[in-house]
Amino acid sequence: MNIVILNGSPRPSGNTAAMVAAYREGAEQAGHHVTVFDVCRMRIAGCLACEYCHTKEQRVCVQKDDMHEIYPALDAADMLVLASPVYYHGLSGQLKCAVDRIYAPGYPRRLRKAALLLSSGSTGVYDGALYTYRQSFLGWLHLEDMGVFTAAGDENKSPELLERLRAAGAALTDPDDLNVPRLVIRAGDVAVRAPLNQTQAARDLMNRLPLTVSGINSGVDYCCELKEGSFDEAEKQQGWTDGDVSVADGWFALLHSGQDQSQDYRVMVVAHLDEEANETIRALPEQVTFELSLEEPYLAGVVTTQEDAQS
Ligand SMILES: Cc1cc2nc3c(=O)[nH]c(=O)nc-3n(C[C@H](O)[C@H](O)[C@H](O)COP(=O)(O)O)c2cc1C
Repeated sequence: MNIVILNGSPRPSGNTAAMVAAYREGAEQAGHHVTVFDVCRMRIAGCLACEYCHTKEQRVCVQKDDMHEIYPALDAADMLVLASPVYYHGLSGQLKCAVDRIYAPGYPRRLRKAALLLSSGSTGVYDGALYTYRQSFLGWLHLEDMGVFTAAGDENKSPELLERLRAAGAALTDPDDLNVPRLVIRAGDVAVRAPLNQTQAARDLMNRLPLTVSGINSGVDYCCELKEGSFDEAEKQQGWTDGDVSVADGWFALLHSGQDQSQDYRVMVVAHLDEEANETIRALPEQVTFELSLEEPYLAGVVTTQEDAQS
């Protein structure tokens, strides 16, 4: 898989860099492709909170700095690793700037897994960084936790620590079906689920959930008005398969029937309902209000640090 590591330490031969190198070595030995960004050597400003990315140009940050080297790598990444020295009980300021700028793209397309590497002077100083990691990356971005690795004082650069990191990197496996975020479609007491694909439209929809939409059954679909979001015209397809869920051009549609006559239409498919779920949708009344939400693939917060494990 593609792994992006954001290294937030300014010291090229420091303790965090040693943790990153060991984790990278293990991951590369296991066949993964690893890209490390030393954010302290990059020109990355803090978020301006101008909302350009949510109002003017969808998901694009207005600030033209080195963060634009990281955005495409994040979009192609299956896993994100945050590595930081602990500064005043949190991530380094330089790394926090890069983290805040993820606000523009929101959910990176393929990202499914995360890990956290922290180096500090003392023990027991991780709560600030852990809170950010758990709430924003495991919870908000719905990523699977691949572990939190900490090193305090003399543990830094110790052979035991570096071997543990190499082993953790080497044990990483590609995301599987369990890592796929699912769209939950509720109509009254009925709920169906469909895995979301990796299109820009699906990612954009994830950013906008939960949503409520209403539509009437046309005989082939439930077509519901939905405020325009962002999608890539090139990712549209000709025709649909019964069970496809599409989002584009101001519509959310459950294409439950009519695949044989669908070839004249270009649709932006973001998910597909299996046959049983599609039957459930077909059996709904003529006019329906759908509650759309995102299913959390993992329970965030079940993180074990070395300290937790020792106590
Ligand atoms: C500005 C600053 C703030 C720090 N704050 C803490 C802290 O709150 N708790 C702690 O245990 N260590 C703290 N440290 C120590 C570093 O976290 C520690 O030396 C770490 O191993 C440095 O990693 P590096 O070699 O990658 O730079 C701080 C260091 C600096 C420079």
